[in-house]
Amino acid sequence: MPLIPTGELVAQARVEGRGVGAFNAICLEHAEAIAMGAEAAGQSAIIQISENAVKFHRRQLGPLAVACAQVARGSSASLALHLDHVEDVELLRQSADFGFGSVMYDGSTLAYDENVAATREAVQWGHTHGLWVESELGEVGGKDGAHAPGVRTNPFEAAAFVTATGVDGLAVAVGSSHAMLDRSAALDHPLITEIAAAVTIPLVLHGSSGVPDEELRQAVAAGMVKINVGTALNIGFTGAVREYLASDPKVVDPRKYISPGREAMADVVAHFIGVLS
Ligand code: G3H
Ligand code: ZN
Repeated sequence: MPLIPTGELVAQARVEGRGVGAFNAICLEHAEAIAMGAEAAGQSAIIQISENAVKFHRRQLGPLAVACAQVARGSSASLALHLDHVEDVELLRQSADFGFGSVMYDGSTLAYDENVAATREAVQWGHTHGLWVESELGEVGGKDGAHAPGVRTNPFEAAAFVTATGVDGLAVAVGSSHAMLDRSAALDHPLITEIAAAVTIPLVLHGSSGVPDEELRQAVAAGMVKINVGTALNIGFTGAVREYLASDPKVVDPRKYISPGREAMADVVAHFIGVLS
């Protein structure tokens, strides 16, 4: 399949009243697992690369981006490519060269006015390059970003932010938290409903690995559309690799233990897609 523009996948999911899973790829095998999971679930998905993953790859976007794009093109599932949590504007601008359908400009730790100005500029640049642009709004004065526990997005401010920036998707702080190892987050469902009523664009939930299935279903029903999942894949991968290494202390061929790790990630992807559909 050709790469599908992210905006199309998000719009389609919204019309169908479901969420679209956006899964973080750190290595080639993550992208393969996302494709495998989406194929197994018979549903679309977004492969996303974060600025942190780019830093891990010696600050080079190209190698991982090209690999993810090629995996998507070789899959029978509808897949899009998204560049996530970008603070570095230089990196943001590289996205136009590698098949990305969307970028998230992350100004969530900036003061409100600075976030508006920087996001507006990112949106203008993104739109001239045909990209769907996501941004994030946490809490005025919030020091730990939008996804620290307890941080909440104000619905009125969200509406003003969307109008002022022209952004296409908005990540909001409603009780989820990045990198949770258990699924115990409790979302603020009345707030999701309020924000969804205050803005016309699709909402994005970050830190979804820590959100229980039923909470995710309710969040989608209340207006969340793009559901970002990262840590859950790594929990699956690392658990399977650990198990393999413990069972075969003499193994040295990485394909032996990466294969079950990749399978475990594919299962996680298929599970989340099922919950969101
Ligand atoms: O942007 C990526 C996500 O928010 C992933 O968060 O690793 O907690 O699932 P997570
Ligand atoms: Zn995130």
